[in-house]
Amino acid sequence: MSTKSVIVALDIGTTKVCTLIAQKSGKNLDILGVGSYPSQGLKKGSVVNIEKTVESIRHSIEEAKLMAGIDELESATVGIAGNHIYCFNSSGVVPVKNKEINQSDVDRVIEAAKAVLIPSDREVLHVIPQEFKVDNTVGIKNPIGMCGSRLEVNVHIVTGKTPLIHNLVKCVEQAGLQANEVILQPIASSKSVLSQEEKELGVVLIDIGGGTTDIAVWKEGSLLHSQIIPLGGNHFTNDLAVALKIPHNEAERIKTTHGTVLKNNQLNDTYLTVQGLSGTRPREVSLSFVADVLGSRGEELFQVVRNMILEKNLQDEITGGFVLTGGGALIKHLPELAEYILEKPVKMGYPAAFGGMTTAMQHPKFSTVLGLLQESNHLSNARTLDEKQEDEVDMFDKLGKSIKNVFREIF
Ligand SMILES: Nc1ncnc2c1ncn2[C@@H]1O[C@H](COP(=O)(O)OP(=O)(O)OP(=O)(O)O)[C@@H](O)[C@H]1O
Ligand SMILES: [Mg+2]
Repeated sequence: MSTKSVIVALDIGTTKVCTLIAQKSGKNLDILGVGSYPSQGLKKGSVVNIEKTVESIRHSIEEAKLMAGIDELESATVGIAGNHIYCFNSSGVVPVKNKEINQSDVDRVIEAAKAVLIPSDREVLHVIPQEFKVDNTVGIKNPIGMCGSRLEVNVHIVTGKTPLIHNLVKCVEQAGLQANEVILQPIASSKSVLSQEEKELGVVLIDIGGGTTDIAVWKEGSLLHSQIIPLGGNHFTNDLAVALKIPHNEAERIKTTHGTVLKNNQLNDTYLTVQGLSGTRPREVSLSFVADVLGSRGEELFQVVRNMILEKNLQDEITGGFVLTGGGALIKHLPELAEYILEKPVKMGYPAAFGGMTTAMQHPKFSTVLGLLQESNHLSNARTLDEKQEDEVDMFDKLGKSIKNVFREIF
């Protein structure tokens, strides 16, 4: 199998590192191998221990390679999140050189939009065009070929702290792969979970992971806003561990098997036996108390989301409501609580199926890695198209030269 036809996606999360290996068949993908290993070197989405992170990545890659029956891999598309990510919108304007807009005008206007002061310890990860404006016509997605004298663009810029991006890339390299693309995690999750229709209508993706909650706001197919909130599923678990005075793994068990964020009368009469800290005897706790603890954290999280929407003045853009994904979104009744606080429809989002994907993979915790794979495929298809177009240009160039030669010979 040619290494060029193999695509690798790597989601280095706070609770797990997940690797997917897929083969390209035409424009589509077929998943060949999956590896998932507990993550130990991250805190709130950022690498805090290189050695432990490399170890987790290595295990995850080995597992995927074994399943795919592949010995050598070259590079991977890697997801990034963390509290250090800062995103903002910008705009640029340039005069059109030859009346008809071409790729070089588009490149120039995007460069102009990028020319904002970015602190020296930050790096730009993405510059994503939202819409172009040609003279007075707004809402243009692709201006190439249009006539006009002035081209404007609005873009969404994603930046991250340079040392933290480098730490992530370094971990991937030490685990034996090149990081050929680094993609913001909520952009990846949006790719696997949201439909084009939802992105057109206006929707907010909320990916609740272990250490962070990653947000992407879409409207008319464009990314309006993205943000990483340093609050995730692990905070719910920690709250339970502290409130019930139980070990972390026992709190995780209670949360995932019995936890809910909404109270009802029935819960007052339901008791659970919990294993206390070492040396203490098992105790009975009411499920209503568990719901109180988890519910408070849920309320706090959705209040942060609500404030962000109000602060960015996005409340009128979200016609399609909110979509929850990520492992942390699985606490019972979280969508109902979110709907109450956000005052818009909220639903759970599962990654859409494609070639070689098992039902076990249609789980919210795999939304990011599946989206990374699809983004990587999309970028590789675009590159192939560019190469083809360059070849075509070359061919026309050669054809032009040979015709000129024929004319020279005839006259
Ligand atoms: N059935 C469940 N019910 C409730 N919570 C769950 C369930 N399954 C997993 N979780 C929670 O999901 C979280 C992990 O989610 P996920 O795998 O999406 O995170 P991650 O990608 O490793 O982290 P991050 O994206 O924040 O870096 C954990 O906090 C875990 O407790
Ligand atoms: Mg994640």
